[in-house]
Amino acid sequence: MELSRKHMEVFNSFFLVYVKVIIFLSCFNLLGLATSSPVVGGNDTDRQALLQFKAKITGYRLKVMESWNSSIHFCQWRGVTCGRKHRRVTKLELQHLKLSGSLSPYVGNMSFLRELSLVGNRFYNKIPQEIGRLRRLQILDLTNNSISGEIPSNLSACSKAYSSLSVRNNDLRGSIPPSFGNLSSLEELRLESNGLTGIIPEALGRLTNLSFFMVAENAISGIFPTAMFNLSNILAIDIGGNKIQGTLHFDLEITMPNLEFFSIWGNQISGQIPIALCNASSLDILQLNNNRLTGNVPSLEKLDKLSELQLGANALGRGREGDLNFFCTLVNNTKLLNLYVGVNNFGGALPKCISNFSSTLLHLSIYQNKISGRILDRIGNLIKLEILDASQNQLSGPIPFDIGRHQKLQRFFFDNNFLSGTIPYSIGNLTMLIEVNLAFNNLQGSIPSSIGHCQNLLAMSLSHNNLSGPIPPQAFELPSLSIFLDLKSNYLTGGLPLTVEKLKNLGAFRVSRNRLSGLLPNNLGSCVRLEALFLEGNLFEGPIPSSLSSLRGLVALDVSDNNLSGEVPEFLVSFGALKYLNLSFNDFDGVIPSEGVFKNKSATFVEGNNNLCGGIPELHLSRCNSKTSSDTSLKLKVAIIVVILGVTLVFSCLLILWFRKKKEQPTTTCAENSILQLSYQSILRATDGFSIQNLLGSGSFGSVYKGILEESGAIIAVKVLNLLNRGASRSFLAECEALRNIRHRNLVKVLTAISGVDYRGNDFKALVYEFMEYGSLEEWLHQSINRNESGIMRNLSFFQRVNVAIDVAYALEYLHHHCETTIIHCDLKPSNILLDQEMVGHISDFGLAKILSSDRLNYSTNQSSSIGLRGTIGYAPPE
Ligand SMILES: *[C@@H]1O[C@H](CO)[C@@H](O)[C@H](O)[C@H]1NC(C)=O
Ligand SMILES: *[C@@H]1O[C@H](CO)[C@@H](O)[C@H](O)[C@H]1NC(C)=O
Ligand SMILES: *[C@@H]1O[C@H](CO)[C@@H](O)[C@H](O)[C@H]1NC(C)=O
Ligand SMILES: *[C@@H]1O[C@H](CO)[C@@H](O)[C@H](O)[C@H]1NC(C)=O
Ligand SMILES: *[C@@H]1O[C@H](CO)[C@@H](O)[C@H](O)[C@H]1NC(C)=O
Ligand SMILES: *[C@@H]1O[C@H](CO)[C@@H](O)[C@H](O)[C@H]1NC(C)=O
Ligand SMILES: *[C@@H]1O[C@H](CO)[C@@H](O)[C@H](O)[C@H]1NC(C)=O
Ligand SMILES: *[C@@H]1O[C@H](CO)[C@@H](O)[C@H](O)[C@H]1NC(C)=O
Ligand SMILES: *[C@@H]1O[C@H](CO)[C@@H](O)[C@H](O)[C@H]1NC(C)=O
Ligand SMILES: *[C@@H]1O[C@H](CO)[C@@H](O)[C@H](O)[C@H]1NC(C)=O
Repeated sequence: MELSRKHMEVFNSFFLVYVKVIIFLSCFNLLGLATSSPVVGGNDTDRQALLQFKAKITGYRLKVMESWNSSIHFCQWRGVTCGRKHRRVTKLELQHLKLSGSLSPYVGNMSFLRELSLVGNRFYNKIPQEIGRLRRLQILDLTNNSISGEIPSNLSACSKAYSSLSVRNNDLRGSIPPSFGNLSSLEELRLESNGLTGIIPEALGRLTNLSFFMVAENAISGIFPTAMFNLSNILAIDIGGNKIQGTLHFDLEITMPNLEFFSIWGNQISGQIPIALCNASSLDILQLNNNRLTGNVPSLEKLDKLSELQLGANALGRGREGDLNFFCTLVNNTKLLNLYVGVNNFGGALPKCISNFSSTLLHLSIYQNKISGRILDRIGNLIKLEILDASQNQLSGPIPFDIGRHQKLQRFFFDNNFLSGTIPYSIGNLTMLIEVNLAFNNLQGSIPSSIGHCQNLLAMSLSHNNLSGPIPPQAFELPSLSIFLDLKSNYLTGGLPLTVEKLKNLGAFRVSRNRLSGLLPNNLGSCVRLEALFLEGNLFEGPIPSSLSSLRGLVALDVSDNNLSGEVPEFLVSFGALKYLNLSFNDFDGVIPSEGVFKNKSATFVEGNNNLCGGIPELHLSRCNSKTSSDTSLKLKVAIIVVILGVTLVFSCLLILWFRKKKEQPTTTCAENSILQLSYQSILRATDGFSIQNLLGSGSFGSVYKGILEESGAIIAVKVLNLLNRGASRSFLAECEALRNIRHRNLVKVLTAISGVDYRGNDFKALVYEFMEYGSLEEWLHQSINRNESGIMRNLSFFQRVNVAIDVAYALEYLHHHCETTIIHCDLKPSNILLDQEMVGHISDFGLAKILSSDRLNYSTNQSSSIGLRGTIGYAPPE
């Protein structure tokens, strides 16, 4: 909002571009001609002067002056115009050429010069005094250069011919020479955007031909001379952005029938608005903003050509009823476009006459006043309104349903009032909205889903209201949102809608201090432009999704005061821009890293998480039970020895048990066929959108997620295949067909296979297994890869090891001898042996299996199985 307001002001100040009308007035000062001839004479002098002028130009742009050579007459040189008869230079125009250099004093020798225009170059140094000799000079335009020094006081010494003097956008110092009061032909004096100081000379009041007096954006002080108001030809006065003080002569009895533009913005002018201004019936733009004006605004009824009234940032009004009555003096004005009265002392209610305003009004800004009462329903007559800014007032009552009639509305600010009621559904009619701010009111009810129609929104704040109910998914279906979305401090409930992924351009997202719950959606990671993410003070649970690792531009992340758990994501370390990270008052556990943002004590907040350890000492967390490398390798060695011992035992036990079990039948038959029908959506729901906390592991084959089926509550493991390997997807279904037909107590049961299309339209293939509670044997054998989510000590007793070995042996026996088709696993290793709740071993991962002696299934042998790597190289487990 701050930004847009600034834009608005800049826009206002430079709003008018006047067509420069320059009348060539010749002033044949015969006396001057007689006295100043001796030095300057003849066309050769001009040629010399031009060559000298060129000689001062430096730099790479010199080549544009190529034509200034002796092979052609100087009158044909670029930018040079000569008189037809006398062949003397009358005009020198070199505009927008990026020429760099100082101005040669020889210019003062071209005595027939009437116009010197060097707009838009890089001329620097002073304006040479010698220009004062050019008694025929009418137009001097040095706009947009880097001219420094003072304005030569004898610029006016010999000439009264000037009609236009423009040195805008340079680097001039010093003051406006009082001698300018002698430039009796001067019509246009434009000195904006320099570093001029001093005062406005009273003598300028003598310039009866002056039409444009523009000295904005300097450091001119003193008062504004009364006489300047008395210039009967004046069209435009701009003294904005200076240090002018005093009053504007409230009761001056003068008329300025031609005045069209009057701007004093950004000075220290006090007192009341002069009545004389209200008599300036040609006024188009009146900018009195950012001063110290007081009192009531007089009637503006005579200003029927006024299109812009800028009264903002003064002390106008008396904070009471009737202050805005001057609005009613504008009702017959059909030209009014912009009305800015913000940041004043206006009180009372919005006058009803506003509804009679001409529908031409585009901008209405009344923010930061003491305006009370309700928003008038009939404000809806202003159907062209683009900006409606009423923030920081005392307005009450509901937002009228009629707001939907302002279909051109782009900026809608009513924050910091006492508005109540609901946000009208008709807000969805405002499809041009760019920015909406309704923060700090008493608005109730839910956020209307119609907000999803506002597809041009860049920023929206509804914070600090009493909004309740869930966030409608449509509120996030606004890809245009790029600056901020702020829903802080309401009573919103439910989870973050999955549509959050549509906020791909959003910079700042704040839903803090609501009652939002559930898991943080994985697709929050799609909001890749996020720099600020504030989720604190809600009831979110579960881990920080790993997908947030894509939010690499984050500068601030606050998830404090939730019920989040799991480990502190390692990826936060690599977020170079992160300057603020608040994880406090959650249930995070594990190790706090010490790198990146975690190195900075004043940037990281972790208190109120009882299970965190490590981090930099300044965080005062307990030390983690670190496993030194020698410790780990020792355990590894022990584990290997135990495995080898176990394996030898297995073989002996196997022999015994094999004979015993031989009589028993396998508990399930190979051909059992109970296909579970699952869709992509049900898998998506079961795994919480493949969320990180459900990720069991990943590898080249894809990723395995834990999931809970909604229908049955059954726990499953879903292997989502990485389909980058085209062959994988082809053999996929055939392969799972084979696996579905084999069943054994010690084989991981494949419940079903899914082949379809995900919500992005990509192919999706997954295998659904029954879930093995205790993970892989490898995790049990090798502590270093033990992720220990459940916190159980993972140590297998000798007997457990033997049992697992026996389980594996059963399974292999079944595969090799009892199945319809003989299947050879080909990749048997601890990580492919999974343990269920009863510590029973199950063989999994048949991606590499060879199926023998079955013509029917031969095509599905390993040639293009779902796994990229064929076996684990250099490792053949004892089994
Ligand atoms: C200068 O003017 C004289 C006559 O006034 C003329 O003879 C001469 O050719 C001119 N030279 C140039 C360079 O124009
Ligand atoms: C002199 O100017 C003419 C006209 O631009 C150009 O064609 C010619 O090349 C220039 N001669 C030299 C020596 O630069
Ligand atoms: C032109 O002006 C320069 C510097 O201002 C001066 O030195 C020179 O004598 C003047 N006269 C001629 C004919 O160039
Ligand atoms: C005023 O201009 C004349 C040329 O017209 C110059 O010779 C003189 O030095 C200037 N005087 C001052 C005080 O700048
Ligand atoms: C001067 O420069 C400003 C900004 O670069 C530009 O907007 C303006 O049009 C220029 N004025 C002229 C007369 O070239
Ligand atoms: C204006 O010109 C008059 C005579 O032409 C002169 O006496 C007076 O000093 C000049 N004023 C200024 C401020 O230069
Ligand atoms: C305005 O100008 C008139 C003459 O044109 C003069 O009589 C009057 O005093 C001037 N008023 C002010 C306030 O300068
Ligand atoms: C305004 O103009 C009217 C005539 O159009 C005149 O009678 C009145 O005195 C003027 N008021 C002021 C304050 O200049
Ligand atoms: C507006 O115009 C109407 C009709 O011409 C007139 O009666 C009324 O006084 C005018 N109001 C203002 C404030 O000028
Ligand atoms: C919404 O816009 C339609 C036209 O698109 C208009 O007919 C309707 O009145 C508007 N609704 C409201 C509440 O202003």
